[in-house]
Amino acid sequence: MSAVHCYANLHGGVSLSTGARLARGCRDVHAASARRRHRLVSKFSELASLYGCSPIETPILEPATLYASLGATSDINVSETYRLMDTDPQLVLRPEGTAGVARALRETLKGKAHGTRVWYAGPMFRRERPQAGRFRQFTQLGVEFVDSIQVNTSGNLQPLADADAISLMYKFFTSIGIDPTVRMNTLGTAVQRANFNESLTKYLTPRRDRLSTLSRRRLDTGMCMRILDSKNSQDIDTLQGAPCLREFQSAETIEAFENVCLLLQQNGVPYLIDETLVRGLDYYTSTAFELDNGNTGRALAAGGRYSGVVEEISGVGFAVGLERVETLVSEMDNISDDNDEIIFVIALGDVDSCKSEVLNASCRAVESLRKAGVPAVLRPEVAHVSKCLGRAVREGAHAVIIIGSDEVVNNAARVKFIVGQDKKNMKFEAPELVGLDNIGDYIRKQMVENRISNKAEERRGCEQSEDIRQNFESN
Ligand code: HAM
Repeated sequence: MSAVHCYANLHGGVSLSTGARLARGCRDVHAASARRRHRLVSKFSELASLYGCSPIETPILEPATLYASLGATSDINVSETYRLMDTDPQLVLRPEGTAGVARALRETLKGKAHGTRVWYAGPMFRRERPQAGRFRQFTQLGVEFVDSIQVNTSGNLQPLADADAISLMYKFFTSIGIDPTVRMNTLGTAVQRANFNESLTKYLTPRRDRLSTLSRRRLDTGMCMRILDSKNSQDIDTLQGAPCLREFQSAETIEAFENVCLLLQQNGVPYLIDETLVRGLDYYTSTAFELDNGNTGRALAAGGRYSGVVEEISGVGFAVGLERVETLVSEMDNISDDNDEIIFVIALGDVDSCKSEVLNASCRAVESLRKAGVPAVLRPEVAHVSKCLGRAVREGAHAVIIIGSDEVVNNAARVKFIVGQDKKNMKFEAPELVGLDNIGDYIRKQMVENRISNKAEERRGCEQSEDIRQNFESN
C-alpha cells in the first residue's frame, strides 16, 4: 500500500484529489523566488524602520462596509472584492491594506493614533481579469503615516510627511537596484475633485462616441477622472481642450503640493509632475503618486494622501506590488538567489532500517552541523556516489558529506565542498577527513574562510545598509 493511501485511511478514508490545479490569477512561490521575496520584505522593513515605522499585521478578512470609503466609483468597488456571502456582517478578502490598517489604528489606539507610522506586508485579493503582472492574489508591502496632531491643527505640515513617504518609496527601489521614475500630482480636496469631475463629465458627454470602450464605461459610471489616465490615442485626442484639474484647485492646495516638490528636491528625490495622474481609489486627497521603472508601463508602487478612509484617520502612505518587483529583480539578478548554504549529509548504502549504523552516524553528523548553526539535511541514498553528488548539486547543496560503512568504522568523513554551482563545471574540494562529532564546527570554520557562510551574507547585507545610510546622509 502506498504512503498516500495509508495516510488517507488513517484519516477516515479521505480521498485525495488528483485534478486540483492552482486557482487562476494566483501564484505558487518556490524556493529562489520565495527567498528573493523574503529579502525584499526584509529590506523594506529595514528602511521603513529608518523612517520611524513599526510593523503591523491586520486580518485578511474585513467587514465589507470598511471598503465603502474606497468610494462607489473606485476601481476596487467596480472590479469587486471577493465577498463571503454566508457571514453576518458580510466579510470580504481585503483588496488593499490602507483601510484595514486605518481601522486597526483607530480601534486599538482609540484617538491616540496621531503621528503613528506603520509598515505591513501581506496578501491582497482583487477580482480582476488576470494578466501579466495583475493577479487575483498578490502581495503588498506598504506604509501608512497617520497625521500627527500638529498637522491636524496647523494644516501646513502635511507636505513633510508626504515627502518622507515618497522618499522612503524611492529609496527602497534604488536600494534594490531599480532605477525608479516617480510621477506625482495633487488631486485637491474632495470638493475640488467633485467640481472638476462634474465639469469634465459635461465636456466629455457630448464627445462620448469618440472615446474608447473603457473610457465610455468610465464616463457612464461616474469615473470620469480616470479617463485622464488613458493611454489610448482616441482618448488622448478627445481630451485636448478638456478642463484642467488645476483650475479647480485653491492656492492652498497648490502651495502644499509645491512644498512637497521642494522637500523632495532637498532630499535628492527626482520626480515628474503628471497632471493626468489620478488614482483609482476615492479616498485620496491632495498628493498622489506612482512609481515605475520607466519601461514596464505598470506601476510598481503607488500611494498618496488620504482622509476619511475611516473616521478620525487621515495620513499618507503607499504600497509596493511585491510580485511585480520580484519579477524585475529576478530578471536583473541583483539579489543573490543562493539558498542558505545547505549541507547534504548523504547516508549511503545500508539505509533500510532506522536502526542502521550508517543512518545513526549520519544523524549525529547532521546534529553536529545544526548545533554549529549550519543548515543541514539528511539524504538516505542507495545510488552510486556520482549520482548522489550530481543530485546534491542540482538541489543547491553547498557541501556534501558522504557517510557509508567505512566512515562509520573511522567515525570520520570527508567534506566535499562544491566549487561553482554550474552543473557542467562542478568540482569538489575534499581537503581532509573530519571526526563526525566535530564536523559542524569544522564546516562552520571552512564556510567563514571560504566567505560563503550566512555570516558573510549578513555582513554584505549590513554593508549595504551602511551604504544606504551614508547615501541618506549625503543626500
Ligand atoms: P494600488 O495602486 O491599488 O494602491 O496598489 C498599489 C500597488 O499594488 C500597485 O502599484 C501594484 O504594484 C500593486 N498591485 C495592485 N493591484 C495588483 C494586482 N492585481 N496584481 C499585482 N499587483 C498589484 C493601494 O492599494 C493603496 N492602498 C496604496 C496606498 C497605501 N495608498 C495609501 N497608502
